[in-house]
Amino acid sequence: MKKITIAIDGHSSCGKSTMAKDLAREIGYIYIDSGAMYRCCTLFCLQQGLINADGTIQADELERRMSEIHVSFQLNTETGRPDAYLNGICVERDIRTMEVSSHVSPVAALPFVRAAMTAQQQAMGREGGIVMDGRDIGTAVFPHAELKIFVTASDEIRAQRRYDELVVKGEHPDFNAVLENLRERDRIDSTRAVAPLRQAPDALVLDNSHLTIPEQKQWLIERFKEKTLPPTPPL
Ligand code: DC
Repeated sequence: MKKITIAIDGHSSCGKSTMAKDLAREIGYIYIDSGAMYRCCTLFCLQQGLINADGTIQADELERRMSEIHVSFQLNTETGRPDAYLNGICVERDIRTMEVSSHVSPVAALPFVRAAMTAQQQAMGREGGIVMDGRDIGTAVFPHAELKIFVTASDEIRAQRRYDELVVKGEHPDFNAVLENLRERDRIDSTRAVAPLRQAPDALVLDNSHLTIPEQKQWLIERFKEKTLPPTPPL
């Protein structure tokens, strides 16, 4: 059976990654978390002092040093999911902190950052058989993807999910700060000039505010089967 390309886009913390990872594992496709790639670029900026105290980015210097950023993924055999590596070092934990979250949207809005990451993402998906999640996968990275999903959920539910994730990781976040960060990221992601977050006209919408993880997984597998299985002939 021909392997297709699956693009899953949507707002911050709406459970896209969980859906995408679970689907990829179930159908034997490669999973790529494109947000992790922008998070790696942001971590690089923080490590190299390219973000000023007022939050502005030293964009010229970053542009000069883009070739020093190498992002890759390796399957973690314990979790069964890919971990992100920045220049050969596993940074899966470091890229999920509130510090990275609060700087990632302005970094991801820089046109030269997007051009570099989009080129890498397209190279990863050249052969099909990929599930990629992000903000612009169905619109800019793989506009010809056979299956496009646009996921959303209410702001409060998304903030609660992010808050719970941070607590499990040992952070002590303030719920309102998490909610504000998420709204601000949505605002920047949706209004930036290059490849803003928006629903592709041919995307299927999933509001998972009140769905359990098994329910959304089931929904997604049904959409996948509709795209890949031949229609049953009439009796
Ligand atoms: O999915 P996430 O929260 O890990 O994404 C981190 C940031 O990266 C998010 O604020 C927007 C940006 N992003 C993007 O601009 N384009 C993508 N394809 C994926 C993420």
